[in-house]
Order: sequence, then C-alpha cells, then structure tokens
Amino acid sequence: MSTANSLIYPLPCKHDYGIGIVGAGGIVNYAHLPAYRKAGLNIIGICDINENAVRNSAQKWEIPFSTTDYRELLKRNDIQIIDIAIPNEGRVDIVKEAVAAGKHILIQKPFAHQIEQAEEMVRSASEHGVRLAVNQNARFAPFYRKAKEIIDSGILGELYLMTHEMRINQDEALAGTWFAKVPNFLLVDYEIHHLDLMRFWSGSTPERVYTSGTRMPGQHIQSDMTVLTTMEFASGLRASLITVDTLQSNQAFWSFTVEGTKGSLYGRISHDYTVFELDYYTKDNPGQWTRVTPPGRWFVDAFYGSMFELMNAIQENREPSISGRDNLETLRLLHSMIRSTEKKMIVSVE
Ligand SMILES: NC(=O)c1ccc[n+]([C@@H]2O[C@H](COP(=O)([O-])OP(=O)(O)OC[C@H]3O[C@@H](n4cnc5c(N)ncnc54)[C@H](O)[C@@H]3O)[C@@H](O)[C@H]2O)c1
Repeated sequence: MSTANSLIYPLPCKHDYGIGIVGAGGIVNYAHLPAYRKAGLNIIGICDINENAVRNSAQKWEIPFSTTDYRELLKRNDIQIIDIAIPNEGRVDIVKEAVAAGKHILIQKPFAHQIEQAEEMVRSASEHGVRLAVNQNARFAPFYRKAKEIIDSGILGELYLMTHEMRINQDEALAGTWFAKVPNFLLVDYEIHHLDLMRFWSGSTPERVYTSGTRMPGQHIQSDMTVLTTMEFASGLRASLITVDTLQSNQAFWSFTVEGTKGSLYGRISHDYTVFELDYYTKDNPGQWTRVTPPGRWFVDAFYGSMFELMNAIQENREPSISGRDNLETLRLLHSMIRSTEKKMIVSVE
C-alpha cells in the first residue's frame, strides 16, 4: 500500500515501472525494499545467487518472482528498471546484458572499483539509449539535501570552506565480511559518500587532493580505518574531511560546516538520530540563527529518493543528476585520494 503522504520526495508522475532487484543482501533488505514499499513502487522480481537469501527476501517483502539467475529478470517485459546491489564483482556483465535488453539501471555505490569498468558501463548504457543512475544516496539524505538547498539559495554567498566529519565504528561488525577484503575499504565504500557530497554541495570537482590514512592499534580491518583529506578547488574553495571508523567512545556522530562570504551553516547528527541540528546564519538576516529540521531520515527516505530521480529522468528524457557519467568524476576523485595515500603527497585529480 502506498503511503504517499508521508513521502519527503514527490512521487514521479509515472511510478509504476516494474523493478527487478539483483542482490538480496543487507542493504536491499534494510533500505531498498522498505523504501520502495513505503513509496508503493512496483517490485516485480528479485535475484540473488544465494538461494536462501532470495527466498527469504521474496517471502518477507511479498515479491511475486524470485530467481538465482539475473537473466530471468532481464527476460521479463514487465520489468523496466534493474536495481543492482551486489559487490563489485559481476556488475559489468549484468549491466551490459541489462542495457542490451533495454532496461534502465540503478546501481549501488561504489559504481565500480576500476574507472575503466565504470566507463564501460556508461558507454554501454548510452549505446542502448537507456538511463544509468548510481545510487549515491547521501545526496538524498534529508539533512545533506537541505544543506544543498540552503547553499544553492545563495544566502551563504560564495563558499570558501566546507568540512565534514564522521566518527563511527564498523571495525568489529565488518571484520570477516567481504567488505573487509576490499582494498582501501573505508575510502572506497564509505568515504565515497562524503567526497561525492563535496562535489554535490560545491557543484564542482576539486583540482588537487591530499589524503592521509592511519590505523587504530589493534583494529580488526586490514586497511586504514581513519582518513583525513584536504581538497583544493579552482575557485579557492577548500574542503576538509575527517572520517574515523574505529570510534571507541559511545558518541558516534556526523557533523559538517559550510562557510560562505555571507554566512555559515553547521549541521550535527547523532548516530541514533536523537540529536539532529542544522543551523545557519546569513547576513541577509543579521543577528539571527535559523534552525531547520527537515523531515525524513537517510534510511530509508534517501533510497526512494534515488529511485525517484531515475524514474523522473526516464520520463523527462534527461540524464539523472546521479548519472553514471557524473559518477565518473566521483570515482576519479576517489582514485586520486587513494593515489595520494600511496604517494604520501598532494596530487592532481585526474
Ligand atoms: N548507504 C548505502 O547506500 C549503502 C549501504 C550499505 C551497502 N551499500 C552497497 O550495496 C552493495 C551491497 O552491499 P550489502 O551490504 O547489501 O552486501 P551483502 O553482502 O549484505 O549483500 C550482497 C548480496 O549480493 C549477492 N550477490 C553477489 N553476487 C551476486 C550476483 N552476481 N548475482 C546476484 N546476487 C549476487 C550476495 O549473495 C549477497 O546476498 C555494496 O556495493 C555496498 O557498498 C550501500
């Protein structure tokens, strides 16, 4: 049943596209499917190579068709969108076959581990005239999106500094999973949200970047779980990211600041959302701070946000704002950051 009234993003005019999901793992069960059910979307089928996972998900979410072979989804005429949420391996083949079958694509971040793979998928979607969107869903997290709206309204003036800080702990929870084996796990899998946000908020990609990582003594995951980054933009704008994923205190949080020539914006969210503050000041309204608390949460509202953006792009015959092509820039920035950690020096983003 649709609960359209409680949605924080308007339903696309046409929203009955048949959706086929590839992957029945964690994120699909705790974010994609609850979000799509909340929005009343038309989920036709689900696939996972793990028979139990796909059976359980289909049962729990009352999905009419389930399979262990994604090609079974591609054969169906009642599916127009393939939503991919699996690890990196196998993505290119699925995307190339899906777009050849005329399906539009929503694919989880990180789009691809290699830029060449991402370029191949973008090229293939373009050749077959279908839309390819990357589920870079932090852009639809209500507090980050509200910050973007405030920035774009111009009341902060010209931006010269943005900061983002996250302190959480996934070190023990992810040890032993496939995530732990991803080289540069924290940068590739999580920091990609934050570096993409810097692109989203500023509307540009930095020219140079310096990233330095470290490990907490005794941490479980092999790669650095603390990373610091400085970004330099051509306009003079600077950005700074601090990400700690081995936090030992019980006060996990995200915070961010934006400084402009006319004002400031400060945001802070506690991990359990019991604290949620977004305050801004503008010289247009001197002497007064304004607090906004946008409705909705990252989990799960951002997840129908990404899907709605793809649906709107399809019917408006335009590229999604989170297109694969746009995401190539995010991947270039990510790989420049990785290069910076390896060379231990500031590098050009290329
Ligand atoms: N905020 C977010 O957007 C967010 C959060 C968590 C995870 N993710 C991303 O989502 C993706 C999946 O993460 P997860 O946490 O669900 O992982 P997971 O390990 O819980 O689930 C992945 C599922 O994919 C299945 N799978 C693997 N290869 C397959 C194939 N070729 N065909 C069909 N099924 C296949 C596995 O059997 C498994 O059930 C990753 O890219 C991850 O980075 C995004």
